[in-house]
Amino acid sequence: MDLLNSTIDTQLRHRTIRQFTGDPLPDDVFRTLMDVAQRTASSRGMQHASIIRVVDAQLRSVLADVGHQAYMGQAPEMLVFIVDTHRNQVILDERGAAGYGARSMDSFFEGWTDACLMAQNIVVAAESLGLGTNYFGNVLNSPSRVIELLRLPALTFPVVGLTLGYPAQDPQLKPRMPMSLRVMTNGYTEPPSVVDALRDYDAVMQTYYDLREHGRRSDTFTDQVVSKLNAVLPERHHIVQAIRSQGWDLALAD
Ligand SMILES: Cc1cc2nc3c(=O)[nH]c(=O)nc-3n(C[C@H](O)[C@H](O)[C@H](O)COP(=O)(O)O)c2cc1C
Repeated sequence: MDLLNSTIDTQLRHRTIRQFTGDPLPDDVFRTLMDVAQRTASSRGMQHASIIRVVDAQLRSVLADVGHQAYMGQAPEMLVFIVDTHRNQVILDERGAAGYGARSMDSFFEGWTDACLMAQNIVVAAESLGLGTNYFGNVLNSPSRVIELLRLPALTFPVVGLTLGYPAQDPQLKPRMPMSLRVMTNGYTEPPSVVDALRDYDAVMQTYYDLREHGRRSDTFTDQVVSKLNAVLPERHHIVQAIRSQGWDLALAD
């Protein structure tokens, strides 16, 4: 490692935590995480993302059921990050402005990026405080159901869930492919064979024991790609339709 400080150390130790002690997050910890979320960079400064804090135990377990991941409902803290151009549409309406920018896809993607940045900023801060975190893309398995459960108005859309708590497990760091394949200079470059270039990584991945899979030894990375990406997840066929029905116009430029 070239340089190390406590922030970088936290980031280099990241691993997803899927089992937590029952201890809740102290209020000052939660408030600090929200301060970090507030300070996160935001496209055009429009702050097109919001957070739903899910404290209702029943609602949490329904969200976990909808996402088919029971452990999602067992964490002490659950947040859902959403694209939120609704608030700025309300400002346009209240100010009597006829603009349609809040319904543009550009604004949607701004909100998507803002939501992800806010979430990751929270993750880094949380991990630096000794918490563990688990993202949940499963909120996209059935966006219309999540929209209904969280009472999301038009021009809002779920991006990702995040659970947090104090770790009750100590998973291995999950291996990553070499950055020589992911960092390119002055344009896109690729090796003659990606599978060949990943042989060593494939071998290392098999030394990873996935607690999510009850400690089963991992498949090679290229095997995982083949098994996971051979088809689109059937429950995610309708994402674009769900985005449209929340009021964004895919054809609208800014
Ligand atoms: C956008 C996103 C969605 C994710 N969705 C889920 C999920 O639904 N369930 C889950 O258990 N983990 C989920 N994860 C965690 C990944 O599986 C995990 O980050 C990845 O396997 C790498 O492992 P590590 O975080 O332990 O390094 C998600 C991560 C991201 C970034």
